[in-house]
Amino acid sequence: MLAPFQAALAAAKHVVVLTGAGVSAESGIPTFRGAQGLWRSFDPMELATPQAFVRNPGLVWEFYSWRREVAAACRPNRAHYAIAALERQLRQQGRRLTLITQNVDRFHHQAGSQAVIELHGSIWDVCVAGRGGRKAGPCWEDRRQPLCPGLAGRGAPDAHSAPDIPEQDLPHDEHGRLLRPGVVWFNEQLDPAVLEAADVATASCDLFITAGTSAVVYPAAGFAHIAAAQGAAVAEFNLEATDATGLCQFAFQGKAGELLPAAFGVEAEVEQLMAQAAAGGQGG
Ligand code: OAD
Repeated sequence: MLAPFQAALAAAKHVVVLTGAGVSAESGIPTFRGAQGLWRSFDPMELATPQAFVRNPGLVWEFYSWRREVAAACRPNRAHYAIAALERQLRQQGRRLTLITQNVDRFHHQAGSQAVIELHGSIWDVCVAGRGGRKAGPCWEDRRQPLCPGLAGRGAPDAHSAPDIPEQDLPHDEHGRLLRPGVVWFNEQLDPAVLEAADVATASCDLFITAGTSAVVYPAAGFAHIAAAQGAAVAEFNLEATDATGLCQFAFQGKAGELLPAAFGVEAEVEQLMAQAAAGGQGG
């Protein structure tokens, strides 16, 4: 399986990699589904919808502030560096790689990936909360943690024991407008420009790689089907089989951080990038 995959990779002019939470799992970021998944302990309808934000913005902010705190203590892993190393290698050869990620931790950027499409936004971004909790204007990055004193020392949300955070103690902009996390929630549309970029990349690739995603949340889950339908080879890297496995020519089961460097033939580059990051030379 590895040799045919590497032959397809060697022949590809445009590679698209779609990543999900499994790619950040080895960094210590919880996934959403599975035994330890976030949605086992937390109800997405109470924490990750515009309606939830309108009902209880303090609870929603507590959830996202906690996730920022977790991410701030974690680092990119070998899977992130392997994708960044492959992108650089392909670029040097006059080929290209487009990375579409559902992850909101921004670890791909931190690892050095450049052509990144963030489908679900980022926990490091904020934007003004408009009518019905929807985004009112563009997002911007704000890495302060906590974002404001009202969010300090809260930990994971516990609706039953912790008192609600009053709205005036939540993040506001300089005009006094309430801010919300710059992520895409359930019951929200993806940014049309972001979706268009992902569609265009998917429709023009000759190798589509899906890594660490359960392939159940649309539209991301549909990209492998679109790529396959227009003739691209499809490869999957995941701990287990998913809904997408059936349409893959190549399916590798195991940890992304172990599989990707070897499959991409970039082990030496990954070790170098990891060492640089550990020494503080590359974002880390
Ligand atoms: P999930 O939590 O649904 O799936 C994670 C996938 O990663 C599973 O298929 C695991 O088998 C796999 N996995 C776990 N650890 C791995 C590892 N070390 N190496 C390789 N694979 C591993 O996460 P996503 O598919 O990213 O959306 O979820 C998609 C969307 O659903 C998220 O972006 C989020 C969530 O609700 C929103 O919040 C809008």
